[in-house]
Amino acid sequence: MSHTRHDPVRVRLQRSELAVPGSRPELFAKAAAGKADYVFLDLEDAVAPADKARAREHVIAALRGIDWRARGITVSVRINGIDTHYMYRDVVDVVEQAGHRLDTILIPKVGVPADVYLVDALLTQIEAARGIPHRIGIEVLIETALGMANVEAIAQAGPRLEAMHFGVADYAASVRARTTSIGGLNPDYPGDQWHFALSRMVVACRAHGLRAIDGPFGDFNDLDGFTAAARRAAALGCEGKWAIHPTQIARANEIFTPTPEEVLRAQRILEAIAAAESNGRGAAQLDGRMIDAASARMAKNIVLLADAIGATHGHS
Ligand code: COA
Ligand code: MG
Repeated sequence: MSHTRHDPVRVRLQRSELAVPGSRPELFAKAAAGKADYVFLDLEDAVAPADKARAREHVIAALRGIDWRARGITVSVRINGIDTHYMYRDVVDVVEQAGHRLDTILIPKVGVPADVYLVDALLTQIEAARGIPHRIGIEVLIETALGMANVEAIAQAGPRLEAMHFGVADYAASVRARTTSIGGLNPDYPGDQWHFALSRMVVACRAHGLRAIDGPFGDFNDLDGFTAAARRAAALGCEGKWAIHPTQIARANEIFTPTPEEVLRAQRILEAIAAAESNGRGAAQLDGRMIDAASARMAKNIVLLADAIGATHGHS
């Protein structure tokens, strides 16, 4: 290992993240009653310009009126982009009036580290002024060519930063990728055309202790397509994916939860490595395959995740 090391900034379960438009308050109680690990109340692209101010009021009421934490749900608000005139009031009104109930703020279309700095500075002032007892986290969407080009620098943009999300639709628009549906595959490309971008973001996250989350899959009637996309994201190191419709929540929870067989095997790896070490050996074999200290690190990730799921939520 390098002498430099960045431990996970903050561990939160984020297998499924339900997007809920702030302008549809009739959905809030349904979101709270559901099984998503995370819910983000949206003030950005799911809300039409004429509805922005009213959506802000709805979101404040939802934070104050619903006890998300008691339901085991982490609650976030997606503010409008820093290039809009809605953004300052999103932060000021929501955090002043409901910051004590808010876990994180999700900033869309982040392009440079200073975008995070701006929100961090505002949060620091409002938390102090209002005596908010906890530190509100920041999450960012990497969904522009500029954001992706600066992803390593953004990953180091400050101590509040917890997670980065890959926003596939805006990313496609920004790089002018030809795409058919949000998060789906283009048959003209031999493989997964999002692989490079997603993987690049995951590496930046993991280098700096952040959670890596995959964004939306738009065709909510195509559960097989969602499943395949989520499994690809999990294979690359993401620990969760957005759900833009309730049908996608259970599938995301399932895919990002290690199976009992995986957990059992991980526990056996840890035991076998411990036994090998006590005999003065680093490498060993388990079921005819070589295992070593790297296997133990992978196994430990699985056991820690399984423990977090068991401890935080009763549900799968
Ligand atoms: N959160 C909570 N509940 C939701 C929901 C959501 N995001 N989306 C749908 N539901 C509920 C509906 O209210 C309905 O409940 P009911 O059975 O009690 O009537 C049920 O789930 C089935 O919904 P359905 O009728 O199939 O969908 P819809 O036509 O109401 O809405 C969308 C479809 C896509 C408009 C809606 O799912 C949505 O707005 N999703 C989020 C979009 C978003 O946030 N985009 C920005 C990020 S990419
Ligand atoms: Mg977007």
